[in-house]
Amino acid sequence: MHHIDILVATTSGNTEYLADQLAELLQHAGHTTTLHYEPDYSELLESLTDQSIWLCCIASHGAGDYADSMLDFAEQLHAEKPSLEQLKYAVIAVGDSCYDTFCAAGRDADAMFAILGAKRLISRLEIDMSQDDPDEKSSTWLKFFIQAM
Ligand SMILES: Cc1cc2nc3c(=O)[nH]c(=O)nc-3n(C[C@H](O)[C@H](O)[C@H](O)COP(=O)(O)O)c2cc1C
Repeated sequence: MHHIDILVATTSGNTEYLADQLAELLQHAGHTTTLHYEPDYSELLESLTDQSIWLCCIASHGAGDYADSMLDFAEQLHAEKPSLEQLKYAVIAVGDSCYDTFCAAGRDADAMFAILGAKRLISRLEIDMSQDDPDEKSSTWLKFFIQAM
């Protein structure tokens, strides 16, 4: 049994819905979850232990920016560059392939966490909202995430 913090970057709610679905699936698999709809940088960093697992569901907005609910978190992460050596994580990047900056925020988070020493549990999932079925794609990916924990 693991505890998973689910960090959500959303502006219009699609990624929040997706994160809710994933939390339910994780709970059915016997794990516990905390949803962070507006991830609090200080709280999450202060509560890091070597058991910490973050599942980050990150929509891109603007010109490849983080969606609103995680803008502050991303800004502080880039400014402070903390050590994340205790952390295990995985990223689901949500975007739309009609933008040149497809999934740029999720890609940035994935790269930043790795640079800061965190352990990537599984390769990033990228969801193209104009092509993919988000539920189907993410639930298949989640099975591999659960195995990797
Ligand atoms: C104003 C606007 C800007 C966007 N910019 C990007 C972008 O730069 N890259 C990308 O991959 N998707 C972009 N998208 C697509 C969103 O990521 C996609 O609609 C996603 O489902 C939004 O998730 P949310 O409802 O959780 O905020 C943009 C969407 C909007 C409305």
